[in-house]
Amino acid sequence: MTAHASRSGEPVDANGSGQGNPPFVLPIYQSAGWVFRSLDEVDAVYEGRDPGTIYGGSGVPNHAALEACIRSLHGTQTAIVTAAGMSAFAAVLWHLTHSGARIVAAANLYGNTLRLLGDLTKFGVRIDTIDAGDLDQVKDALRTPAQLLIVETISNPRLRVADLRALASLAHERGALIVVDNTLASPYHCRPAEHGCDIIIESITKFLGGHHDLVSGCVTGSREIVEPLRLPATRAGLISAAFDSWLATRSVTTLSVRLSRSSATALTIAQWLERQPKVAAVHYPGLPADATYPVARRTLREGFGSVVSLEVAPDRAAVDRLLAALRHIKLVLSFGGVATTLAHPATSSHRSLAPEQRAALGIHDGFLRLSVGLEDEALIMADLDRGLAAI
Ligand SMILES: Cc1ncc(COP(=O)(O)O)c(C=O)c1O
Repeated sequence: MTAHASRSGEPVDANGSGQGNPPFVLPIYQSAGWVFRSLDEVDAVYEGRDPGTIYGGSGVPNHAALEACIRSLHGTQTAIVTAAGMSAFAAVLWHLTHSGARIVAAANLYGNTLRLLGDLTKFGVRIDTIDAGDLDQVKDALRTPAQLLIVETISNPRLRVADLRALASLAHERGALIVVDNTLASPYHCRPAEHGCDIIIESITKFLGGHHDLVSGCVTGSREIVEPLRLPATRAGLISAAFDSWLATRSVTTLSVRLSRSSATALTIAQWLERQPKVAAVHYPGLPADATYPVARRTLREGFGSVVSLEVAPDRAAVDRLLAALRHIKLVLSFGGVATTLAHPATSSHRSLAPEQRAALGIHDGFLRLSVGLEDEALIMADLDRGLAAI
């Protein structure tokens, strides 16, 4: 109970706790400080004998509620909710690397993740990049001792699916932990722990959040490996805001309903795009012609995700005309929400790369990433048709 003086000088209960019947939905615990009624209670909460709360920045009931959802969705023992997907990576790297450590990372990781790894080199951490789709290359890279192997379940934006089971066993044979960024798949399409992976990261900002309105992330996995990250992550202020955790807890209840619909629509759109003369290439793991279709079939479940990448002629002015002709789909530099959106990686996620580095990744001015939402598929196709006609 929070008490402060009323105008008449009498203490008042500012939060109304303990009154009336409980709400159906967990309220937002928007409080930095928490009241302790005795020093024994302080000891009990710190020592975990009492499930109380210490401080807003160390996790409030809204985080605990979201963490329970993440554990259940991933079938894992522990989850830590962080301020963003990148904070989840920061927590893992902060705790599990040290001067002289070596990390083997997929060369096609999300650009910010690669840049965050690059930041570690100033502390004497060595980063070696590999093609995660080439298991011989991964095996060779792991011959030199490494602490971590880092991959994405579905890479952004080329949408290559990693063979998580094979990669996990290669990492474990060589004594490394495997860290998987599962953002594009979400636990609806893939639960990396079931494939033997140790540390799973999600940008909750995307499909788990799903409504274009929050930024959050999480790390999940076994109690033994992931729980020790909690204190360093808390110390470093990496824990998410109570309101974003509340929003995300609301969102995950509809994850399967949203993604069953959007992934089915994404497959239809990908098949339709394959037939469009102005589309030079379509990248979608659910297309039999796609490079990682066989891996996707054994790694993903319930479909192949809600993101489709496409290539048109590498002509920036023509792409601008395509974007201007769209009536419904907006250019938004994120993905995973209820509305269909388009992104242009060459000017956003990959803009800091040299043109030849972008070319090596196959990202040019005509490369577009479509995040499929919940609209009727006919509406999305009609809009894309208008855009393609304007090229
Ligand atoms: C694959 C992937 N991982 C991580 C992130 C970072 O997530 P956040 O923006 O929540 O920090 C992103 C963001 O786009 C992403 O695409």
